[in-house]
Amino acid sequence: MKKDLISIKDLSSQEINEVFSLTDKLKKSRDCPRRGLSLGFKNDFSKALKGKTLALIFQKPSNRTRVSFEVGMYQLGGNSIYLSPGEINLGVRESIKDAAKTLSRFIDAIVLRTFEHKDCLEMAKVSDAPVINGLSDFSHPCQALADLYTIKEKFSRPSGIPQKAGKSLKNITLAYVGDGNNVCNSLLFTCAKLGVNMNVGAPKGYEPEETVLKYSQELAGKNGASIKLFNNAFDAVSGADVIYTDVWVSMGQEEEANIRKEIFKDFQVNLDLVKSANKNALIMHCLPAHRGEEITDDVIDSKNSIVFDQAENRLHVEKAVLIKLLGS
Ligand code: CP
Ligand code: NVA
Repeated sequence: MKKDLISIKDLSSQEINEVFSLTDKLKKSRDCPRRGLSLGFKNDFSKALKGKTLALIFQKPSNRTRVSFEVGMYQLGGNSIYLSPGEINLGVRESIKDAAKTLSRFIDAIVLRTFEHKDCLEMAKVSDAPVINGLSDFSHPCQALADLYTIKEKFSRPSGIPQKAGKSLKNITLAYVGDGNNVCNSLLFTCAKLGVNMNVGAPKGYEPEETVLKYSQELAGKNGASIKLFNNAFDAVSGADVIYTDVWVSMGQEEEANIRKEIFKDFQVNLDLVKSANKNALIMHCLPAHRGEEITDDVIDSKNSIVFDQAENRLHVEKAVLIKLLGS
């Protein structure tokens, strides 16, 4: 893997699959101590990052990203330091370069949650320590890795969802319904790399960037999959095995809330929409969810909703990423 994880675009499909294989081991190693089998277990990762420290620079709020990285470092024997917007105040109190150069003398890796994607790129360029993008306005790579890992998990082992047996990542269709921004972009890159079919249903003017779409469509084609764009949610979910949505108003877009709620109202994931997908389609959401807006309670709380498995897998996948970037 490269020094940093800024975008899924920078990973090869082999590297993604290696992260997934390590994630499998990490998940199993956590199950064993719960069953009292930790002593002498060959996959004991509890000291994998002993003595290492992760800095978390967050310019936006977070539950999953912050907590999963902090808990992940703890479970791997390392330490973490959370730096809230007021503390580092990137670009205001000091430049990204000076902040990164200073932190590189203290810590072993940085997770950066920011607005502008170019800040992540700049931080990665000037930091000696690996930089992990913990969400920018353009991408959310850790989210997409956890999402595709979750889908793989659900489709590849007896999961209590018998109708899924026999399907693999290569022959499923993921329908993303909503805003074509950070989460959607990272899903597009990941699906394209892994050869997963993806439909995007987004209102006109809110589609993913042309360059992201074109790159993903070409790569998906080479990997035997197709990526299609629709301006209608029902068309997007037709034939879908998984329906995925995200908020209509992302962090930093609060002033556009009223207009966005109007524009996206036909893109709500509700029972009517779910009925248009394949039977028992799985329901995903990166969370936080704005219940009653992009998704209704009866869908997010339904038996086919895997949103909390998805959230839990953030922890396991990010531990794998940390070991890949930081492990000796
Ligand atoms: N999905 C996600 O990144 O959640 P947080 O914003 O709570 O970190
Ligand atoms: N698109 C959302 C994702 C939150 C995890 C946002 O950027 O706020």
